[in-house]
Amino acid sequence: MVTASAPGKVILFGEHAVVYGEPAIAGAIDLRIRVRAEKTAKSLKITSETKDHRYVEKAVDVVFEHLGEATGLMIDISSDLPPASGLGSSAAVSVATIAAVANLLGHDLGKNEIARLGYKVELGVQGAASPTDTYTTTHGGIQYIQPRKKGFTPIQASLPLVVGYTGIERSTKELVAGVRKLRDAYPELVSPLIKNIGMVTRQARKSLEAGEDVGDLMNINHGLLEALGVSNDALSRLVHASREAGARGAKLTGAGGGGCMIAYTPGRYRDVINAIEGCGSTAMKAAISAEGVRLE
Ligand code: MEV
Repeated sequence: MVTASAPGKVILFGEHAVVYGEPAIAGAIDLRIRVRAEKTAKSLKITSETKDHRYVEKAVDVVFEHLGEATGLMIDISSDLPPASGLGSSAAVSVATIAAVANLLGHDLGKNEIARLGYKVELGVQGAASPTDTYTTTHGGIQYIQPRKKGFTPIQASLPLVVGYTGIERSTKELVAGVRKLRDAYPELVSPLIKNIGMVTRQARKSLEAGEDVGDLMNINHGLLEALGVSNDALSRLVHASREAGARGAKLTGAGGGGCMIAYTPGRYRDVINAIEGCGSTAMKAAISAEGVRLE
């Protein structure tokens, strides 16, 4: 029996635009998914709190194909992360499944290999995806991701963040498809929005590395995501309540449509948490996790 775990993530800048080759910045957070894998005679049995097993099934297929081996499996999943919330549970479960099953079969895959296979799983299930989530959950820390160059650079920064959860589950696949539809319908209007998000993200990298305030940049990024149609009433309410309570910046994080938002809160954790809870939502302090996927 082998157990592997991987952290969730928040996207700090660049979600959706990263699907079109623009850069993104993401940070692993200290909430984890654990995958326990055991060999059995039967084909594949999965137990978990969630009904959606597509990512686990695909991860098992991908790792079997990669290793050229297969076995009957029993997989048990437990998670600190709300499912379908934009905190990277699908990437974390894919990556932890790959690490656990490979190890069970006697293979110690390197992190780059695990991240690459994890991306293959997301692409297979979602149709369109960027390597942002799978890379960040595999390696941990804050990462600057450049999909066009296949480049990944860690950023050293301290970031006081609060995460607010709307409680609304949503599908990344549908939200990514919605942006594509909008872009196909109005390419001259939507492509510059996507490029602009890329410019915000490049500036955010410089500001983070210089230890500067990134509040305005988060607010601009949120406005551009609103224009892409991926925010909603619940997210906007939490974003505005956080800013009014003293957050320097706030934006949705991940695919949008519900899920989570983040607020940049130097010195104002408590006020911002109270403001989000005052809207009837869950709020938590998010600590960046330096550690990515690991065997337990
Ligand atoms: C989802 O966490 C982030 C998106 O940019 C999709 C992706 O990068 O695969 C919306």
